[in-house]
Amino acid sequence: MAYLLGIDVSTTATKTVLIDEEGAVVATAGSGYDFASPRPLWSEQEPALWWEGTVSSIRQVLAQSGAAGGQVAAIGLTGQMHGLVLLDEKNEVLRPAILWNDQRTAAQCDEIRARLTPERLIQLTGNDALTGFTAPKILWVREHEPEVYARVRHLLLPKDYVRYRLTGDYAVDCADGAGTLLFDLKARTWSDEMLAALDIPRPWLPQPYEGPEVTGVINGQAAGLTGLAPGTPVVAGGGDQAAQAVGVGAVEPGIVALTLGTSGVVFAPTDAPLVEPEGRLHTFCHALPGRWHFMGVMLSAAGSLQWYRDTLAPATSFDDLTNEAAAVPAGSEGLFFLPYLTGERTPHPDPQARAGWIGLTRRHTRPHLTRSVLEGVAYGLKDSFRLIQTAGLGQIRQVRLSGGGAKSALWRQILADVLDVELVMVNTTEGAAYGAALLAATGAGRFANVPAACQATVQITGRTSPGPDRLAYAQLYPIFCDLYPALRPAFQAIGQQS
Ligand code: XUL
Repeated sequence: MAYLLGIDVSTTATKTVLIDEEGAVVATAGSGYDFASPRPLWSEQEPALWWEGTVSSIRQVLAQSGAAGGQVAAIGLTGQMHGLVLLDEKNEVLRPAILWNDQRTAAQCDEIRARLTPERLIQLTGNDALTGFTAPKILWVREHEPEVYARVRHLLLPKDYVRYRLTGDYAVDCADGAGTLLFDLKARTWSDEMLAALDIPRPWLPQPYEGPEVTGVINGQAAGLTGLAPGTPVVAGGGDQAAQAVGVGAVEPGIVALTLGTSGVVFAPTDAPLVEPEGRLHTFCHALPGRWHFMGVMLSAAGSLQWYRDTLAPATSFDDLTNEAAAVPAGSEGLFFLPYLTGERTPHPDPQARAGWIGLTRRHTRPHLTRSVLEGVAYGLKDSFRLIQTAGLGQIRQVRLSGGGAKSALWRQILADVLDVELVMVNTTEGAAYGAALLAATGAGRFANVPAACQATVQITGRTSPGPDRLAYAQLYPIFCDLYPALRPAFQAIGQQS
């Protein structure tokens, strides 16, 4: 029996999944860690944590399954996107990695727009400059830490640092490459125009590959530490959102992936590099050749419910909270929750945006508060969904829902009603790591291509159809849409005070 390994270098843990050739999960393991916020708006992590997490979780899945390292046919990598890892000429890490949720680069984003013009930037890269992306971080280091910048020889993304430690190669997949803002979206490689405009040397950048392509093999040192066999192929894999989409089979136009994790993501594959002209949606390469995708990202989705429970009802389980909320009518009797606890990305790219309840009266009880949180997140996801529906994508045939929040039947129903679409659930629940394992399986020749790998492994397990409440939500959503623009000046004033 041969196995495939998927490794997800996420912000909170490195998670590894071992699957068999049919796609069945044989073992999973995770090794958790924290990230640091050394200053307001900053978010950093030591790359050594990812490497330790990778070694330990590979050893755990091999031990749990009893598989020998030599039985692993290929490995796929995925991980948090947009992070910046800087290496010197001896391949030593020069400073902690600056992560995707770091917000320090507003001035560098303005500089990038000014150097390219906003229109050209979006045309070329598919995206506006956002504080979380990699390119503005490079400019920030050049400006604020010139002594570090002077020693840079290699720029890598988080999972590709792990790749370097596993294989000794500097490589990246096209999905993560596109998330740097230095990629030519159409050509699926580094953009000479972007590199020239930002004065970033091409030799510092890793070689781009398509998701299932082999980028290198496990070297002797990594084999000794992990128990894998030297020479085992490692495929490019994908940024976490693209790999997550592969993991639930969202690889064809018309099949949309909706992920209700800490953040909320609406991910729509396309077969051309379509761009939202104002850059309100992200467009990146998908993790398979000849496919791109639109993406809307809401920063606090299930994260809103988590905060709410931890802060206001720490002794109550999520199930008890949502059971209470099911008795409240749709619309929470006039109560709205704005879900911008950590600022927002789509459709309001605003680090200063704040959360809040609007419409509270003495009549409202805890179940109303809970239900309004679920509804506020659903409205926020509808913002992205609507942009995707009008972005020239054609018909959306199916929406595949995954992530921790999807376990709640009430939340599933509210989402189906607010979005006014049928939602389907699938059997594959291991997220991005599973998608990376499918990319490895394809790279190792077990499947002809990525869609075939998804067809063979991903099955529909349940459906939630819109019910009568969809009519009430159609009336309420326009009120939600008016709240952020009305409150924006107040958010900015609050931001200046704190
Ligand atoms: C995607 C994004 C996050 C990170 C962390 O654009 O910023 O999904 O990849 O998971």
